[in-house]
Amino acid sequence: MQKKGRILTGHRPTGPRHIGHLMGTLQTWAGLQDSYDCFFLIADLHVLTTDYAHPDRIPGNTLEVATDWLAAGIDPQRSTLVLQSALPQHSQLSILLSMLVSVSRLERNPTYKEQIQQLNLQPSLGLLTYPVLQAADILVYRADTVPVGEDQLPHLELAREVARRFNQTYRPMFPEPQALLSETPRLPGTDNRTMHTSYGNTIYLKDTPEETTQKVMNMYTDPTRLRATDPGHVEGNPVFTYMDLFNPDKAEVEELKARYRAGKVGDIAVKQRLAEALNNSLAPLRERRMALSQRPGEILEILREGSQRAFPIAQATLEEAQTLMGVNLSARLGNLEGGTPPVSLIGTFC
Ligand code: TRP
Repeated sequence: MQKKGRILTGHRPTGPRHIGHLMGTLQTWAGLQDSYDCFFLIADLHVLTTDYAHPDRIPGNTLEVATDWLAAGIDPQRSTLVLQSALPQHSQLSILLSMLVSVSRLERNPTYKEQIQQLNLQPSLGLLTYPVLQAADILVYRADTVPVGEDQLPHLELAREVARRFNQTYRPMFPEPQALLSETPRLPGTDNRTMHTSYGNTIYLKDTPEETTQKVMNMYTDPTRLRATDPGHVEGNPVFTYMDLFNPDKAEVEELKARYRAGKVGDIAVKQRLAEALNNSLAPLRERRMALSQRPGEILEILREGSQRAFPIAQATLEEAQTLMGVNLSARLGNLEGGTPPVSLIGTFC
């Protein structure tokens, strides 16, 4: 089948994925795999921009993210899974592109401004250049489509500017990557704030059914409702937001809403029903996840194969960019020797 284009998108491996990732992104990605040539990137270098002091967490989180992706339907037969740090071309292209971006442009990035307000640290150079590395991630595969959430739009805008700047300065070589925004609105956390690992308001794909039920039973509902006989609010109530998404029995959902509004059903009963529906809906994914997590060697092999497939594509782009920027004499020096052979990944983590 003729593909519509090439996708690159990814996540930073900050921890296991939650149902917000599943509904907002992973399901969308899984659905794009037949119509696009897909590259899914685990951006472990990007984790260092904020979490460089916890190196022990990154390998485990990388495996967790890969496992969740695969369980959610990312298919290594149809798509390419790439580990960012395994491909030096991402970092090398990032250095080349950084010459085309001004410091003040990066300082104006709203994501950067927000983050330095939140961090109690002096922002590092790496944090400032985060979007340049992200631009390299996309452009190194000459991807034209980037499925992301709205929060990533400032970064994508920078990638588009860099591509234009490069094309104008040297010769047209990069497509200007377009965002593909997901239509599903963000899932609220169990406390009705934004779902975020650091808020403790997430339901993880890897949670057991018991943990899930526990979290659902503690969910925020309608704060104005004191007794089960009080009329309740369905809109803006995360219990019903989840119910709409995870309970396939639409007639039952409508009936529960009507009874809730009329003060004819208690919060506990509604939550019990939600916990059941949520666990049912996640069961197949969790089964796949369980099977995969018992074979970490296989996950590494999938990352190895994907990164290997990506390598020549990234290398060709890098060499073309090096040539256009005048730093290609190095190619005529031939392969330099002296590196140690790569340590087996399997020996390192498992
Ligand atoms: N910045 C993205 C995030 O925080 C991760 C990411 C890195 C990415 N490189 C990318 C996303 C390239 C899309 C394209 O989730």
